[in-house]
Amino acid sequence: MNSFVFANPTRLYYGKGQIEQHLSTEVKRHGSKVLLVYGGGSIKRFGLYEKVVHALSEAGIPVFELAGVEPNPRITTVHAGVALCKEHGIDLVLAVGGGSVLDAAKAIAAGACYDGDVWDFYATRRRPEAAIALGTILTHAATGSEMNSGGVITNWETQEKLSSSSPFTFPRFSFCDPENTYSVGREQTVYGIVDMFSHVLEGYFSQTSGTPLQERLCEAVMQTIVEWADVVLEHPDDYAAREAIMYCGTMALNGMITMGMQGDWATHGIEHEVSAYYDIPHGGGLAILFPHWMDAVIDAGPARFAQLAERVFHIAPDGKTERQLGEEGIAAVRAFLARIGAPDRLDHYQIDAQHFADMARHVTRGGPIGKFKPLDAEAVLAILHASL
Ligand code: NZQ
Ligand code: ZN
Repeated sequence: MNSFVFANPTRLYYGKGQIEQHLSTEVKRHGSKVLLVYGGGSIKRFGLYEKVVHALSEAGIPVFELAGVEPNPRITTVHAGVALCKEHGIDLVLAVGGGSVLDAAKAIAAGACYDGDVWDFYATRRRPEAAIALGTILTHAATGSEMNSGGVITNWETQEKLSSSSPFTFPRFSFCDPENTYSVGREQTVYGIVDMFSHVLEGYFSQTSGTPLQERLCEAVMQTIVEWADVVLEHPDDYAAREAIMYCGTMALNGMITMGMQGDWATHGIEHEVSAYYDIPHGGGLAILFPHWMDAVIDAGPARFAQLAERVFHIAPDGKTERQLGEEGIAAVRAFLARIGAPDRLDHYQIDAQHFADMARHVTRGGPIGKFKPLDAEAVLAILHASL
């Protein structure tokens, strides 16, 4: 494995009843003025908003609000949050929602300590040197943003969706109560499942050698996702199912399972390009693109594909070449995505080839993307066309 440094400072409160018991104490520990950040109103519909407001009133500290964070959060909304923080001397951002709300809150927390435009952290190599404290209450199992330092923001004017991460933007605390995900609709639940599965794949498709435990950990998370996806979709208010899926989402992208392993991440880069032009759900884009990325790179390491087939999808290897088994693994991924009802063509979102060349050029502007098999603009273009 590669040499690595690992630190993850997020204090996790997992399970039911934690908000009532610990939120007010955590808030007081980290702040004296809070900016409550949330999305389009789901938290009001299923009753979480009142619960949070109650805990904040117990903490007895002033609360300001930023509502309306969009899925694929916009830099304009982040700017509004930064302005509120600066105007009112906010020292804790509390994000209540899915990955979009959490990512917007990370940007706001960093932007509040920066004199320039917070977009610099996404569009340039500049990284935050400070951030105000961030706490989160997760309502959608998908991104892992509750326990990582990354965030993705969209600039609609420049048609860019870009990511940033910094040791300063780890949440100080995150509350993950599976009951808060009961109200996530079927389609969104599918997108979350695809996203977390893709996060594991991005790490798993690695050329780093000497990572036997990391591979097993990845396989365990993928197997658990595959097993529990059907249960959660059939029984959306089954606590055990929501809990299993929520924990998979956290583990898929908190850095724990892939320490010392160089992941690929090309598919995420390509998906962000598509989202930047068409505002599609991240998980939907990944479901379409990932199998085509797999088709395009299998020759760079058929053994890992064969291992996926055998260990995650229990496909018998007998008499097959590594390549044949690997292809069956890709077919198994496709079958899993189809079974849960994920989209499989860009056409599903009425996307045509109009902007493909720009997307391919933009995503490779710093050179070929992906570490499993580096892809140039032409290779990215081929994946986009195959996904139509
Ligand atoms: O806005 P509200 O009303 O809350 O509704 C949201 C939104 O419409 C709804 N929702 C969330 N929790 C709900 C709920 N509806 C009912 N009940 C609940 N309990 O779900 C919709 C989608 O929410 P969103 O936050 O956009 O979804 P997700 O968590 O999938 O986040 C997607 C964003 O995260 C980025 C994606 O690119 C995208 O911008 N990512 C962030 C990563 C990270 N920070 O590490 C990594 C990922 O790869 C990803 O790129
Ligand atoms: Zn993702």
